[in-house]
Amino acid sequence: MMTTENASPTATLKLISAGITAYQSVFVKSRLAPLLSRPKPVRNSGFEMALTIESVTAQGPDVISLELVDPDGGQLPSWIPGAHLDILLPSGKQRQYSLCGDPADRTRYRIAVRRIADGLGGSREMHELTAGRTIDVVGPRNAFPLIAAESYLFIAGGIGITPILPMVRQCHERGIPWKLVYLGRSRETMPFLDELAQYPSGQVEIRPDDEFGLPDVTHIIPTAAQGSAIYMCGPTPLMATARGLMREINPSGSLHTERFSALPVVGGKAFEVRLAASGITVQVAADETALAAIRREVPGVAYSCQQGFCGTCRVRVCGGKVDHRDRLLTPGERAETMLTCVSRSAGGPLVVDL
Ligand code: FES
Repeated sequence: MMTTENASPTATLKLISAGITAYQSVFVKSRLAPLLSRPKPVRNSGFEMALTIESVTAQGPDVISLELVDPDGGQLPSWIPGAHLDILLPSGKQRQYSLCGDPADRTRYRIAVRRIADGLGGSREMHELTAGRTIDVVGPRNAFPLIAAESYLFIAGGIGITPILPMVRQCHERGIPWKLVYLGRSRETMPFLDELAQYPSGQVEIRPDDEFGLPDVTHIIPTAAQGSAIYMCGPTPLMATARGLMREINPSGSLHTERFSALPVVGGKAFEVRLAASGITVQVAADETALAAIRREVPGVAYSCQQGFCGTCRVRVCGGKVDHRDRLLTPGERAETMLTCVSRSAGGPLVVDL
């Protein structure tokens, strides 16, 4: 998902709105509203589809790309660079993957997955999928849209190249100045180098660690031209360094990073959540989300973005006062429900319908 830092609030709002308005309007009408009359939250939200895996292609030693098509050959919902799909795996796990194909091709989606041998199993399961199989997906959603800028500096680390590929394509097709710095352990481990070879060499800088040493964003970020927007997707420590650096060297600059994990809790206080349906009481620590605490007791509880914009973790509130920190719910919805991935207690215990 994306964090938009130091961009003009108006520009950011417009773009986020452009990226997710269509999703929200359908979501609110077709998914969210009926939820209010249900005793339990639905498992997922958004455009849920069953798609067929048309092909699986190796993109390096531990990366595959998958092309997904409509089983009946129909057109797929449109998307813009930065969008991702939620994949609902047969095991029940849910994972997000950036769309990395051509947005103009409405016949297929392409995603890419790096296999994490010691991860939680989602990527390993993805690597076991084969062509011809049908999987459920939700999306596309976009929380990482390109804001309007005079030029762009893209910084990608490893599999973080996936959301950047369509952005580069769009800038190139529209004649907007851009530069990409692509980082990775070695050329063999960096997917899609062949596709990037189509662009002028001066615009794409390939920097594998085994040739250039470990990446140093303190040298990369200052190369952004005045007025550039910087888009970054890669390892979390690298993005954290970049955010800190921007505050120091270019506080008014525009840095956008994508993350598929929870935002850090800011100004949190510990509180208690009682799960009315199951009779369980959960202690939420000051530095964790209610969702994370609930998942310790109810591992199968539904969630997706973990950043308060998709609505998947929405629950009905039966008691207590909520400190709403989401970007989705209307005042009326907030009177009855909350998003556990970001919202907290405003004081005292909460009771939710789980
Ligand atoms: S998981 Fe998306 S709003 Fe909570």
